[in-house]
Amino acid sequence: MHTCINTPFLLPLLFFTFISPLSSSLPLQHHHSHFIKHTLSPTPPPHPYIEITRPLPFTTPSCTLPLFTHNFANTYNLPPVSVPYSPPPLNCSWTHVVLHFNASCKGEQYDRIAAVWLDGAEILRTSTAEPTDDGIFWTVEKDVTKYTSILVKENITLSVMLENIVNDVFTGVYHVSVTFVYYDVKNVTGIELGSNVDNPISMDVSELGSLDERPADLILPVSANGDNGFWFRIKSESGLYGQRVVIPRNAYKAVMEIYVSFHGNDEFWYSNPSDSYIEMNNLTTKRGHGAYREVLLKIDGILVGSFVPFPVVFTGGINPLFWEPVVSTGAFDLPSYDIDLTPFLEVLLDDKAHFLRLGVADSIPFWLVDGNLHLWVDDNCALPCEVQAQVLDYGTPKFNIEQSSSFRGLDGSFEVEMKRKSEVSGWVNSTSGNLTTIVSREVKFKNKIKFYLNGTEKRVRQNVKEETIVSVLSDTGITISRTTMKKIYPLSMTTKNLPSTENDTSLMLTDLDHEWREKKSIGGSSISLIIQQKCSGWMVVQDHDVLSGGATTEQTYSYRDEVGCYSRIVSAANGTLMNDTASSLCAASL
Ligand SMILES: *[C@@H]1O[C@H](CO)[C@@H](O)[C@H](O)[C@H]1NC(C)=O
Ligand SMILES: *[C@@H]1O[C@H](CO)[C@@H](O)[C@H](O)[C@H]1NC(C)=O
Ligand SMILES: *[C@@H]1O[C@H](CO)[C@@H](O)[C@H](O)[C@H]1NC(C)=O
Ligand SMILES: *[C@@H]1O[C@H](CO)[C@@H](O)[C@H](O)[C@H]1NC(C)=O
Ligand SMILES: *[C@@H]1O[C@H](CO)[C@@H](O)[C@H](O)[C@H]1NC(C)=O
Ligand SMILES: *[C@@H]1O[C@H](CO)[C@@H](O)[C@H](O)[C@H]1NC(C)=O
Ligand SMILES: *[C@@H]1O[C@H](CO)[C@@H](O)[C@H](O)[C@H]1NC(C)=O
Ligand SMILES: *[C@@H]1O[C@H](CO)[C@@H](O)[C@H](O)[C@H]1NC(C)=O
Ligand SMILES: *[C@@H]1O[C@H](CO)[C@@H](O)[C@H](O)[C@H]1NC(C)=O
Ligand SMILES: *[C@@H]1O[C@H](CO)[C@@H](O)[C@H](O)[C@H]1NC(C)=O
Ligand SMILES: *[C@@H]1O[C@H](CO)[C@@H](O)[C@H](O)[C@H]1NC(C)=O
Repeated sequence: MHTCINTPFLLPLLFFTFISPLSSSLPLQHHHSHFIKHTLSPTPPPHPYIEITRPLPFTTPSCTLPLFTHNFANTYNLPPVSVPYSPPPLNCSWTHVVLHFNASCKGEQYDRIAAVWLDGAEILRTSTAEPTDDGIFWTVEKDVTKYTSILVKENITLSVMLENIVNDVFTGVYHVSVTFVYYDVKNVTGIELGSNVDNPISMDVSELGSLDERPADLILPVSANGDNGFWFRIKSESGLYGQRVVIPRNAYKAVMEIYVSFHGNDEFWYSNPSDSYIEMNNLTTKRGHGAYREVLLKIDGILVGSFVPFPVVFTGGINPLFWEPVVSTGAFDLPSYDIDLTPFLEVLLDDKAHFLRLGVADSIPFWLVDGNLHLWVDDNCALPCEVQAQVLDYGTPKFNIEQSSSFRGLDGSFEVEMKRKSEVSGWVNSTSGNLTTIVSREVKFKNKIKFYLNGTEKRVRQNVKEETIVSVLSDTGITISRTTMKKIYPLSMTTKNLPSTENDTSLMLTDLDHEWREKKSIGGSSISLIIQQKCSGWMVVQDHDVLSGGATTEQTYSYRDEVGCYSRIVSAANGTLMNDTASSLCAASL
């Protein structure tokens, strides 16, 4: 039983990526200084950290490949660490693969971004938790079955990058190991393989309703050369980041998967005021350029898709005390985003190289972005057989953005509303028939930022709504399948800064409420996922240190599919897990 403590909750150095209400006068990063030992924790050190997800349905592994271990100390500006990869021996039969990313750290360190690539294709984007003197550890488990076409390759390279800096102050070295666990799921009941219905195996946030068919036959990475990671470091909208790809002439389906994370002055893009606010108030911060950001995908200069990403908060973000030991949604397994390019296959099916370009509208330094082009090929049409395709309608994307700002001195408000709507269609004639794919997409983005009390209080309200409908029609015009995918990401955040005359300290009050809502419907069946986190806390900040503070995080996780439900309710207070209840009972409504 946990005993409530009256003394302020304290931890060894904790770094804080500051969302300053008044960015001019406060440093961007803070950390926790050594005050009192964190001795009241009910679990002996080191302490486990978690991102709440649902368990994977796999039971007995066929085999396990420990592939990678490395201690990431001073790795900034270095290339990723690479090891050879080959699939397990033939006596290990497998249909599914789970990547285990284990990490531990002790000392003082910032949250860091990391990724795993296989043969240059990203398979995991993750970030680290901030360590304590007692040490912390965590595990990320991700179903990577959709990368099977790479996982079967021999003599390729597994690369892991984690940009870290170690010196007198930042002592934390991240110890990382990566293991692949192979399962033969043919024996598991309730899971149909290779069927067209959504496969309930896919478990993490990014999986629900993504590539729902059998894994692609071929994956072409759209990534950088690897000298400094395979991701593109996007510093502005105008840069040319991307790669030329040539696809096989017998491809009949194409989906681009995109990984993103935001850093530096854009780490909290959703809370950035306009440049004019910063200039007029003579602020030194560069966290500006308003709050509209959109990831854009172009083929040879034609916009073929876009999305507004879920605002993942890293473990040092807003108030680092929120994220102990339960991290922010997506922090350990950042979502990737899919754009169905099947209607555009005509453009790609000509044996020529086409430039797939990744960009972030209105971005400031910097974003880490790369992608994988998943391709399915017609097995009954062996090369040099050619699949025919034609774009019927490039759509006339409707795009509308309204931005307004009004401020006097440090007080004021900023609003952005963006809507994008498109409908594209094209047919592809393969041995499965002449199928027409229609992709309709609508994205709505709303953001409002308000500053009060001479800029010391900041409120951010944001919502992202995205709806994608993919219909597949036979050549006689009959609808063969219709998939609807809805995603909603509401966010509400308040930070108050109460300066004190003593010792240059200030009291920061912080609240965050954010959600990931997702629903996918195919025909009559549907899958839904709702993840909500409500966090509230305070901290006393001095210079770069968080001197003391307290925080609570409440999280609910509700998943429902055709087979059943999974729900989990978790609460953490002052660094300790208070409640963690999981249930597989289906609630009446979801
Ligand atoms: C967390 O710590 C703060 C500050 O010491 C305290 O006021 C609060 O009651 C604590 N909360 C819980 C749930 O222990
Ligand atoms: C496969 O064969 C190797 C070498 O003969 C053996 O070490 C391993 O245990 C076998 N694995 C399985 C799953 O049978
Ligand atoms: C990863 O962490 C889990 C949980 O702590 C542990 O069971 C597993 O053995 C670890 N795997 C490796 C390869 O260290
Ligand atoms: C992989 O490398 C091994 C050892 O160098 C070699 O024997 C094998 O033929 C290679 N496999 C392929 C598919 O290149
Ligand atoms: C799957 O089931 C078959 C038949 O029951 C059995 O022989 C085989 O060992 C099982 N495979 C695995 C990986 O459990
Ligand atoms: C900003 O700096 C300019 C030039 O130094 C000065 O005229 C102006 O009053 C300053 N504005 C504010 C709000 O401090
Ligand atoms: C459509 O594809 C099938 C299978 O590849 C092929 O037999 C047929 O000739 C194609 N139709 C046209 C009009 O090209
Ligand atoms: C508002 O904040 C600025 C910057 O900290 C300060 O210079 C100014 O005096 C404050 N104004 C009031 C009315 O408190
Ligand atoms: C495929 O179907 C579309 C629309 O029904 C039609 O316009 C096109 O000619 C067909 N293509 C082939 C190769 O039959
Ligand atoms: C201010 O700092 C001094 C010297 O570090 C310390 O003795 C004093 O207790 C501090 N006051 C407060 C209120 O923290
Ligand atoms: C924790 O769970 C217990 C019973 O399981 C319940 O009585 C209590 O209210 C819960 N606390 C929170 C903060 O949800």
